[in-house]
Amino acid sequence: MPKLIVVTREGEEREIMGEAGLSVMEVIRDAGIDEVLALCGGCCSCATCHVHVDPEFAAKLPKMSEDENDLLDSSADRDATSRLSCQIELTDALDGMKVTIAAED
Ligand code: FES
Repeated sequence: MPKLIVVTREGEEREIMGEAGLSVMEVIRDAGIDEVLALCGGCCSCATCHVHVDPEFAAKLPKMSEDENDLLDSSADRDATSRLSCQIELTDALDGMKVTIAAED
């Protein structure tokens, strides 16, 4: 089971284990961290699952779709590390990845 390190908006760092195949958003939500609202349920239409991903893992992430890119543009907290966590499938290759929950828009 891959490990995910999640930094909350308060700066608290939590280590959680997630089932490979689930999205990073689902793993965060299932761990009881409620800062990721995921209002659309993971269908890439809300941007409330915005996270900043450790740049070390950037090359291992799935390519960003045009929809994800457009949605992220609506966030004031977007930067080069921004991704929608519902669009990242957790895999063994991402074991140990750190994600920081983005500021609320
Ligand atoms: S949960 Fe809505 S875009 Fe990710």
